Amino acid sequence: MERTPILDAGPENLARAARLLRAGRLVALPTETVYGLAGDATNRGAVRAIYRVKKRPFDNPLIVHVADIDAARELAALDDRAERLIEALWPGPLTLVLRRAPSCPAVAEVSAGLATVAVRMPDHGIALAVLAAVGRPVAAPSANPAAAVSPTTARHVADQLGGIAAILDGGPCRIGVESTVVGLHGRRAALLRPGGVPRAAIERLIGPLAAAPGGAEGPQRSPGRLGRHYAPSRPLRLDAAEVAADEALLAFGANAPAGAAMCRNLSAAGDLDEAARNLFAMLRELDRPDVAAIAVMPIPEAGLGAAINDRLRRAATAGG
Ligand code: TXA
Ligand code: MG
Repeated sequence: MERTPILDAGPENLARAARLLRAGRLVALPTETVYGLAGDATNRGAVRAIYRVKKRPFDNPLIVHVADIDAARELAALDDRAERLIEALWPGPLTLVLRRAPSCPAVAEVSAGLATVAVRMPDHGIALAVLAAVGRPVAAPSANPAAAVSPTTARHVADQLGGIAAILDGGPCRIGVESTVVGLHGRRAALLRPGGVPRAAIERLIGPLAAAPGGAEGPQRSPGRLGRHYAPSRPLRLDAAEVAADEALLAFGANAPAGAAMCRNLSAAGDLDEAARNLFAMLRELDRPDVAAIAVMPIPEAGLGAAINDRLRRAATAGG
């Protein structure tokens, strides 16, 4: 795999990244959640290249990133609930799944042929600067091969993905888990993926969210929720109270059991925001051929704990 250049995010390289994107090339960009694999959402070749580079199934749609709300309005119809969420939570780690506008400029492949489009405005200076300079909506899934652990540093991207023009280095991501995905295309708003905005913050604004449906079909489906995902190559053992000598330990809180082959603590202070920030990098560090499994201590469901547990449960699901 050829090495992709990692560029510092100075003004020249921001302009260069925007030029590459406008020319239909792919560039990895930092966001506040994870690094994204960006391509021009209005360019069919660029969007197809995203699926190809990630080895992502073509039925799993992409999130379109915008620099401002007007760009979101061109992509999708914003109802009253969308307006309230956007007003309070954008820019930020909240993705809205909405009906595509009749003249939606994003190619159909972005939506995997669905009548909906997922839209988000990231809360990250580098991402926003590049998006504004591109002047077009930009599709950006997490910059990892399908089913692998999401990247929270430029180095993670370079280690895993080839076939892209450049990686813009924005340092480690501030939130560390992907955006919360809320479906507003059905009658009831639905939580399609827990993420960087806790569920309670959304429910305060628009009322109770329906649970994501479990099945693969139906209007509220979010295909990325299905099957094994976010997975390291070693097996994961969740809710571990003790650890074996041949296991790695992903600890949380002050009372980590001793005796692991190696250990990382998501947050010794028991801080769930810190744990989210550390999650993917620590999973990578513990994912070594010389450990039999990664034992993971229980994580509370509060705040970002729901997103952390969602990623851990899906990483632990064998098969698919
Ligand atoms: O934080 C994030 O959201 C990151 C950064 C780079 O912005 N992006 C990200 O993209 O996590 P990705 O592709 O890894 O996850 C997108 C999720 C998937 O679960 C996908 O199925 C869902 O959003 N999704 C996208 N478009 C959808 C649609 N039209 N309907 C339902 N679900 C959709
Ligand atoms: Mg992803």
